[in-house]
Amino acid sequence: MKLDQRRILITGAGGGIGRAMVEALNASGARTMGVARRQRSAVAGDPAEPQTWLQGDLTLAPDIDRVARAAIAWGADTVVHAAGVPAFGAFGQQPAEQTASVLQINLWSPMALTQALLPHLHQLPDARVVFVGSALGRIGIPGSAVYGATKAGLHRFAEALRRELAGSPVSVQWLGPRATQTAFNSPESVAFNQATGTASDPPEVVAEALLALLRSGAAERHIGFPERLAVRLNGALGPLIDGGFRKHRDALFATPSEGVTP
Ligand SMILES: NC(=O)c1ccc[n+]([C@@H]2O[C@H](COP(=O)([O-])OP(=O)(O)OC[C@H]3O[C@@H](n4cnc5c(N)ncnc54)[C@H](OP(=O)(O)O)[C@@H]3O)[C@@H](O)[C@H]2O)c1
Repeated sequence: MKLDQRRILITGAGGGIGRAMVEALNASGARTMGVARRQRSAVAGDPAEPQTWLQGDLTLAPDIDRVARAAIAWGADTVVHAAGVPAFGAFGQQPAEQTASVLQINLWSPMALTQALLPHLHQLPDARVVFVGSALGRIGIPGSAVYGATKAGLHRFAEALRRELAGSPVSVQWLGPRATQTAFNSPESVAFNQATGTASDPPEVVAEALLALLRSGAAERHIGFPERLAVRLNGALGPLIDGGFRKHRDALFATPSEGVTP
């Protein structure tokens, strides 16, 4: 796939990973349209700004419809679903309404936006839908029950949709970053990653992986080792490797100021 001929709609374009993606896509010659919750205009000369901004809160159905209509009128042939929110913490301590809103943005929104765009994408010779997931959607670790569930659900959705649309002009792709150095991660989450020896990448690594994924046409691309191995082991062995996450559990419940308990 030649990126300089693409028109790419990207949600989460103002976030840490989204900005790096926009910058890499702009540099490759692609045209970019970003979605942001608040109204904003492109800053001329900023290489990480999309050429066009759309305003939309992607938890709201009317906003999704409006974003989809504008993207169709603009001629989007690729959508990158990068908007998302974290939910790090012990599940027993998380407010139920937070769970609902995390599910809404991380899982429901990309499904709804994809559905709104599909009739248009089907009319194109080659369209792409890319879901930005997470290693935590492929492997459940303490502290990521809710977030991991949203990304696991998204992965299964992407997998089924990819198979459902096989042979059509619409290809579905999955990008699985591991921890990435953006504002997405709270100080508690960063401390947890340090305590558990979890590596994290600069967002530019994720952006380069997106370009490689788009160019290759591969179904999936996962970032980082040992995360790729852990995902495979988890898929094959499941409960047999539960003991390998003891240090994550210890780190999660070792937050003395909060006195967090299961
Ligand atoms: N950072 C990591 O460690 C990491 C690791 C693996 C996967 N990921 C995934 O990578 C993606 C990007 O993460 P990031 O690190 O770039 O996060 P980030 O810096 O916090 O950016 C998140 C983006 O999502 C947008 N967003 C959130 N809620 C929204 C809503 N209701 N409507 C519209 N947009 C909304 C934000 O829009 P505004 O700017 O308008 O607020 C922001 O642009 C997410 O899907 C995340 O799950 C991140």
